[in-house]
Amino acid sequence: STTPNTAAKAAGKLYFGSATDNPEFTDAPYLAILSNQATFGQITAANSMKWDATEPAQGTFTLDAADTIANFAMGNGQLLRGHNIVWHNQLPSWVSEGNFDNATLTSILQNRASTLIGHFKGDIWDVVNEPFNEDGTMIDFVFTETIGPSYIDIALKAARAADPSTKLYINEFNIEFPGPKSTAMQNLVKDLKSQGTPIDGIGLQSHFIVGQVPSLSDLQANMEAFTALGVEVAITELDIRMLNVSIPEMEFEEMLAQQKVDYQNVITACNNVEKCIGVTVWDFTDKYSWIPGAFPGQGAACPWDDNLVKKPAFDGIIAGF
Ligand code: XIL
Repeated sequence: STTPNTAAKAAGKLYFGSATDNPEFTDAPYLAILSNQATFGQITAANSMKWDATEPAQGTFTLDAADTIANFAMGNGQLLRGHNIVWHNQLPSWVSEGNFDNATLTSILQNRASTLIGHFKGDIWDVVNEPFNEDGTMIDFVFTETIGPSYIDIALKAARAADPSTKLYINEFNIEFPGPKSTAMQNLVKDLKSQGTPIDGIGLQSHFIVGQVPSLSDLQANMEAFTALGVEVAITELDIRMLNVSIPEMEFEEMLAQQKVDYQNVITACNNVEKCIGVTVWDFTDKYSWIPGAFPGQGAACPWDDNLVKKPAFDGIIAGF
């Protein structure tokens, strides 16, 4: 029987991967699955490379937790996706308070990019995470307020200078289908390209809902709208949640069957787009999914269940490649 990363590579993709987090590193049966390169060829740290975790005070870098994950990936021959350099969430308070002028905040951002990317290297980096509102305007936060939209250009240039061989991405949700947010991201890519800012790819997070996944044709056409601009794409945080997990057993079984179809469609879309380089699930097991914490009552979003047993979604992934 085949496994996701093996299937992805056979289909010409770079990897199939998973996010993971440090508290999970005490769970030996979990790690036995995560470490298997036939199953996962790429790892993303779900939290430990974020700003609050890595620079809790200005100029004080705490990289041990992230090193645990980076070393695990390296030891298992897995690619590393860095996540992330600048985002409006999980900022330490010393940054979010915004007590800096433009020049100082610019150098703080450049220092973070060069320190993190210089340390971890990483094969791919989500340099900028979630820059847009749903209507396609830019998120208002300390970086847009103090520097303006050019914080994105500053971050990407500092990232390229730190490691010319890592792929630089902007990562976002609700841009997996046509709409104002996807259009805004396409316009940003055009602007960055025209001004010579380094940008290699766009990450499509893909936090979806069972039965409400965009159609295969929308997923595919939307990816192609990006790749036509000269960037690659990746599915970076895939999970497909049930809106209600407290349902009768028979209904749950039906949801699992729909979830399998949904996973298969997402994988097929990436498979059909040459410059979609790979797919990452936002952890592989319901045991450690972020969904119940972020969306109370919802869950069962991952391809392995709470007991580390494969769900029908696993077969959907294999079938999609
Ligand atoms: C989530 C983590 O999985 C959670 O553990 C944390 O509490 C909040 O952040 N989009 C992203 C990820 O880009 O960084 C988020 O990760 C999920 C949504």
